[in-house]
Amino acid sequence: MNQTFKEILLDRRSIRAYKPGIVIEDTLIESIFKDALRAPSANNLQPWSFKIIKSPEAKTTYSHLFPWNRKQYETSSFMVILFVDKSFAKRAKAIYDMQVNAGTMTIETRDKQLNAFKQTTMADADIMRTAYLDAGLVAMSLMLSARSYGLDTCPIGGFLKRESEQAFEVTDQEAVMAISFGIKDEDGHQTLRLPFHDVASIY
Ligand SMILES: Cc1cc2nc3c(=O)[nH]c(=O)nc-3n(C[C@H](O)[C@H](O)[C@H](O)COP(=O)(O)O)c2cc1C
Repeated sequence: MNQTFKEILLDRRSIRAYKPGIVIEDTLIESIFKDALRAPSANNLQPWSFKIIKSPEAKTTYSHLFPWNRKQYETSSFMVILFVDKSFAKRAKAIYDMQVNAGTMTIETRDKQLNAFKQTTMADADIMRTAYLDAGLVAMSLMLSARSYGLDTCPIGGFLKRESEQAFEVTDQEAVMAISFGIKDEDGHQTLRLPFHDVASIY
C-alpha cells in the first residue's frame, strides 16, 4: 500500500458498508493481528482475546448478536468481537515464561512480578478498568493495522455483549466491542473534532 503513518492515521474512517463477497485470506487476517498485537498493555498482560466471525456459516450462527449495525455485519468480510479477561494476570506466567525463554526477562524479575500479582489488592472494578483501557489500545491498533493492509473498519459498541459471552461460552471474560472489517463500498461520514485548545491545556 505504501502509505505513510500519517496517511493511515488521517484517512481512517468508520466505514459502515463494504463491498460484498470479498473474501479475506486467513493469512492476511493473521498479519493484521500480528502487527496490532504489538499494542501496549498494563504490565504487558495482554488481557484480550478475539472471536473472528468470517465464514458464511459463522455469520449466520452469530447474526443474532447484531440486531443493530446490520449493514456492517452483513457486508463485512469479517467481524471481530473483542473480549477482555476478568481475572487479573491470568496469562502472566505464560507471557513472562516466554520472555525468560527468549532472554528478554530475568527469572528474578519474572518471579518478583508474579509474586506481586499474587498479593495485589486491586479492586475488581479497577482491574476491569485497566483491562478496558488495554482493549481500547489494541482495538485502535487493529483498525490502523487494517488500514495499512488496505482494509477499512468500523468500531461497534452496539451489539449484544452478554449474549456474545454466552454464545462463545466464555465465563471469565467480558465482551467489550466489535469491529467490522472489509473493503469500503461507501465513504465514511465527514466527522469533525473539537479543536486542540478545547480539549487540551499546556502547563
Ligand atoms: C466505542 C465506540 C463504539 C462505537 N459504536 C458504533 C456503533 O455501534 N455503530 C456505528 O456505526 N459506529 C460506532 N462507532 C463509530 C463512531 O460513530 C465514529 O468513530 C465517530 O463518529 C467518528 O467517526 P470516524 O470513526 O469516521 O472518524 C463507535 C466508535 C467507538 C469508539
